[in-house]
Amino acid sequence: MSRAAHEKPRVSARDFAHDGIAFGCDYNPEQWDPAIWTEDVELMRTAGVDLVAINIFGWSQINPGLGVFDFSALDTVIELLHAGGIRINLGTATSSPPPWLTTLHPEILPVTDDGTTRFPGGRQAWCPSSPVFRRYALALVEQVAERYGAHPAVELWHVSNELGCHNALCYCAESATAFRRWLENRYGSIDELNRAWGTSFWSQRYSAWDEILPPLQTLSSRNPGQMLDFHRFSSDELLDYYRSEAAVIRRFSEVAITTNFMVTSHIRNLDYWSWAPEVDIVANDHYLDHRLEEPTAELAFAADFTRGLAGGAPWLLMETATSAVNWQPHNIAKTPGELTRNALAHVARGADGICFFQWRASAQGSEKFHSALVPHAGTDSAVWREVVELGGLIERLGEVAGSRVVAEAAVVFSWDAWWAGDGENRPSHSVAYLDQVHAAYNALHDLGITVDIVPPDADLSAYKLVVLPGLHLVTDADAAGIESYVAGGGHVLITFYSGIVDEDDRVRLGGYPGAFRDLLGIRVEEFAPLLPGQSIGLASGASARLWTERLQATSAEVLDSFADGPAAGIPAVTRNAHGSGSAWYVATMLEDGAYRNLLADVARSAGVARHPGGEDVDIVRRVGDTGSHLFVINHTADDLELQATGEEIVTGASVTGTLLVPGGSVRIVRESTTTQEGTA
Ligand code: GLA
Repeated sequence: MSRAAHEKPRVSARDFAHDGIAFGCDYNPEQWDPAIWTEDVELMRTAGVDLVAINIFGWSQINPGLGVFDFSALDTVIELLHAGGIRINLGTATSSPPPWLTTLHPEILPVTDDGTTRFPGGRQAWCPSSPVFRRYALALVEQVAERYGAHPAVELWHVSNELGCHNALCYCAESATAFRRWLENRYGSIDELNRAWGTSFWSQRYSAWDEILPPLQTLSSRNPGQMLDFHRFSSDELLDYYRSEAAVIRRFSEVAITTNFMVTSHIRNLDYWSWAPEVDIVANDHYLDHRLEEPTAELAFAADFTRGLAGGAPWLLMETATSAVNWQPHNIAKTPGELTRNALAHVARGADGICFFQWRASAQGSEKFHSALVPHAGTDSAVWREVVELGGLIERLGEVAGSRVVAEAAVVFSWDAWWAGDGENRPSHSVAYLDQVHAAYNALHDLGITVDIVPPDADLSAYKLVVLPGLHLVTDADAAGIESYVAGGGHVLITFYSGIVDEDDRVRLGGYPGAFRDLLGIRVEEFAPLLPGQSIGLASGASARLWTERLQATSAEVLDSFADGPAAGIPAVTRNAHGSGSAWYVATMLEDGAYRNLLADVARSAGVARHPGGEDVDIVRRVGDTGSHLFVINHTADDLELQATGEEIVTGASVTGTLLVPGGSVRIVRESTTTQEGTA
């Protein structure tokens, strides 16, 4: 985060106070005839919906022209929800400017890196650095906050919507000015900037701040330092915008303020480690991504990640889908029971609220084929029946609210590493940061190891094992923290392409991985990536892909070596004793089974407990003041049996020693004894 962002005080925090686990949705009544609003509220009560997000895209309704405000419809909706006992998650309505504003002030429109303007007609057509947009948006927020800030039904504020989903990176003249300001704050002098960006290369030396542009498209590749800083700037810029809305709201309201994050597989523009401390409760939107090989494992990752952003505290799932979305190339409908399993997987991993996009499936607009609680088919539908059943179960789970997940292992995640590692020119475009992170997480998940996702500067002392997948960029301070964790008895697994550059994206010289060479007891002279589709063997019989390197073990013990490929005969997996701990290294992308086997060895030697179950079962324990709850989510078609004792909440049955979890089902045991069931 820039120094300027640090200097601004955080808007004073308030607790999110909800009774039990929230169950809710986005509600867009402006898309419907007011005649059905009363029925909507009745149906919400039937389903157990108790937290509804409104006014998310309300700008053109409540402010239909310059200086014209009309809150009558919103007043009616708020009173209907209030009368129905439904709490409100009130949107500030600023997500998408109305056409009158973009017509009056076309300069607020965003510009992409080819220098062309993006026009209204979709959503989020605004530049995060535009003072004009900010002036109009904050004036609107003031109206909304003043009118409803003390309303008893308002339980939470929903700033804008998915900030940066489309408009995170803007390259307009206003953004250029703001970028220069941010750089001046970060570097203080142009010489310092030249040093950080390595501008001696390709005659890029700047002599004045005004010469600097956002990294617009060039004929060749762009300056990597400039690209990295533009990402940092863009994240800070939107965070500053969030804070400006929150500051207005706080003048009129004493309830919690948040915005919906997008911890998903495809959104990478915001460094949520810096955002998370600024929201009163961390909230995330998550949709299964069927472009991935393992969408359900990614759900677990995203949920654990959101909990990490919340520092382990409960968080809200602000949006998910009851069935298909509309924005992937192939929008897969959920199978019966999948909605329940997915929702409860989030609760298991720390969510204290499950909300959906959206209440009624739109009849018009580009999201008309997106699922909802009330589908186009109406309430005589399997989706609605499952929603009602889930709502009842969520209500019975109220006692879980506030409890926490306990993990013995952690995976380090860094946006700086993502931005720098996936740069334009890199050793292999088949190596991608998120793939490395997912591979590590999935292997741990499949082994039944509960994982926290933590930043590189986290206090690691509570963990028995820490995995650092592809941590390409690492600061000196963070590398030192990781080294002292190991010296003090911790265990790490570091994977290839980690520790290569410093915070200015400058290569650490003297042999890779410069930041971890001594810790790992290895020295790499050269990367030797593989072609896509190429598979190589290791001496152990394991196979691997994507990457090899010319590595020497200096003090590390060699556990496996490349049997063929460009690094044949060279160590591929090593382990180095360091202080009272150990540092393992893997110099390639092991195939799934081999990766799991390696992590099983590392976990065993670190003494990390494993749940039984296997790759398609989630077993997670939440522990709180009222005791502990064991969640078992069986994504397979086969029945599963494991040890547990207590009261099972889904069926209401007593469990005395053996818990049966039928294929496709969820069981949640209020444990009377917290034995480490079936530890492998
Ligand atoms: C996001 C947005 C919603 C909606 C959904 C569709 O989460 O916040 O407005 O567009 O995606 O999946």
